[in-house]
Amino acid sequence: MDILLERKSIRRYTSEDVEKRDLDYILHVAMSAPTARNTRCYSFVVIRDKETHKKIAAIHHAAQMILQAPLAILVVGDKDIAFEEYLPQDCSAATQNILLAATARGYGSVWCGVYSNKKISEAVEKLFNLPKNIKAFSIVVIGKSVDSDSPKNRWQPEKIKYETWE
Ligand SMILES: Cc1cc2nc3c(=O)[nH]c(=O)nc-3n(C[C@H](O)[C@H](O)[C@H](O)COP(=O)(O)O)c2cc1C
Repeated sequence: MDILLERKSIRRYTSEDVEKRDLDYILHVAMSAPTARNTRCYSFVVIRDKETHKKIAAIHHAAQMILQAPLAILVVGDKDIAFEEYLPQDCSAATQNILLAATARGYGSVWCGVYSNKKISEAVEKLFNLPKNIKAFSIVVIGKSVDSDSPKNRWQPEKIKYETWE
């Protein structure tokens, strides 16, 4: 199956590490995402420290899988650099690229939302000592999946309209 159709959220991980060359590839792909006016307002914090993983799990109830995984990437955006209100779109594109690159290298991953939850985003920004202009956007958890389920098939032709809505 085409690798682009294989991505799905993984929430159970083995203890196997993410190799440095795979991590570099994933980050390179993240930085290849499009940004409005090409501001490239994103940055990435690679988090391997288990104590930090525990602190994130305490902040974010829907990110408990981080406790098993070897690595997470915090995606942040610089609101002073982003064009108009495009920071979330830019960081979304980078986040999605991380998920696809991880899949391509044989890793499972899951996007944990941060930006839209004031309580979580403020706590994450405090935990990482982010300056005021740097907004926490997402935390992507990455590792080898425990499960080897086949990819989901999401093809839904009824979602497509041609030329106009009717
Ligand atoms: C903006 C956004 C925020 C998300 N936040 C979480 C999260 O906090 N925890 C989690 O386990 N999954 C999170 N997800 C993953 C979704 O639950 C998942 O993509 C969805 O259920 C579809 O499943 P799939 O990724 O396997 O296609 C998030 C996804 C998006 C796009």
